[in-house]
Amino acid sequence: MIPVAKPNFDEEERKAVLEVLDSGMLAQGPKVKAFEDAFARYVGRKHAIAVSNGTAALHLAVLAHGIGKGHEVIVPPLTFFACAAAVLHCGARVRFADIERDTYTLDPGKLRRALTKKTRAIMPVHLFGQTASMDPIRELAQENDLLVLEDACQAHGAEYKGRKAGALGDTACFSFYPTKNMTTTEGGMVVTDDDGVADRCRMLRDQGQSAKYMHDLVGFNYRMTEVCAAIGLVQLSKLDAFVRRRRETAHHFTDRLEGVRGLVPPAEPDDRVHAFYQYIVRVERFPRGRDDLVKFLNDRGVGSRPSYPMPMYAQKAVAGTKHRRCPVAERVIPKLLELPVHPLVSDADREAIANAVLAARG
Ligand SMILES: Cc1ncc(COP(=O)(O)O)c(C=O)c1O
Repeated sequence: MIPVAKPNFDEEERKAVLEVLDSGMLAQGPKVKAFEDAFARYVGRKHAIAVSNGTAALHLAVLAHGIGKGHEVIVPPLTFFACAAAVLHCGARVRFADIERDTYTLDPGKLRRALTKKTRAIMPVHLFGQTASMDPIRELAQENDLLVLEDACQAHGAEYKGRKAGALGDTACFSFYPTKNMTTTEGGMVVTDDDGVADRCRMLRDQGQSAKYMHDLVGFNYRMTEVCAAIGLVQLSKLDAFVRRRRETAHHFTDRLEGVRGLVPPAEPDDRVHAFYQYIVRVERFPRGRDDLVKFLNDRGVGSRPSYPMPMYAQKAVAGTKHRRCPVAERVIPKLLELPVHPLVSDADREAIANAVLAARG
């Protein structure tokens, strides 16, 4: 089976981990600081704050901007549930605004309808490795005095108009989960140019401490370990090569699938660089339905799977709250499937994957 996702390590990461183990310094220390500095430089931000995972990064970013009870944050309905969880854990409400049919990211044209007097922030999610349509989102945010909190958890290395994902709003969050474009095993990062937000994130991740045993805030233990940071430093040095390989494989698929009736490959608007965290195909009027096609591919050794099963507002966890429905998301969600696009997909694998999809036409 060609797995749909696979972390990519070699001797460099192994050596880095052993060095940390031998150093005796395991909790947050100099490797974390070095990783933060390197990551901030990569994205083009003043501050980077490493944390234990992407959900923790989102939680801290929302809290550090003072968002809480009585506030609302606009999020897209097609994303990982952590986006909503981070907002809800701060006591704020989530409002959903629909997505663009082709990029699957927040539709700037649908934002105005989701605004209320309580709206404090917009959280565009750079989904599947591609940034949202950021200029019009930022313009609307500016007009209405709203924050823009980017969820860049899937978009390491993606770009919009020459700027990296993570440098397109007020504050941004990344995840380094094992399937991501780069990993630290588990891990996350907040990036921002705002000194106050960075200070609060640093305190909140470390029990609210401003100095040893001085608790200025009620915080958390969201620290990153030295082992994770050491892996992260190596992975960051390989990120551009990983993304290049993902893009090559993605373009191979698009070349093979373009023009196949009933299959819609990912859109790539000219103003952005898609980092292809996932290669998502929309199954429209194909001879097989989405689930049948996934099964056909799995039976032939291709690790395909459906994308998110439902709009976030349909999840049980938020069933008690009334939400405006998002018809575009509802229409596309049952049609999306994922093909393996990670850097360990070989030239032979990608031929086999494309051939299997074409064979599914019958
Ligand atoms: C869009 C999005 N947001 C948030 C997260 C949460 O990150 P983590 O799993 O590291 O907590 C993820 C990924 O897992 C994600 O894909």
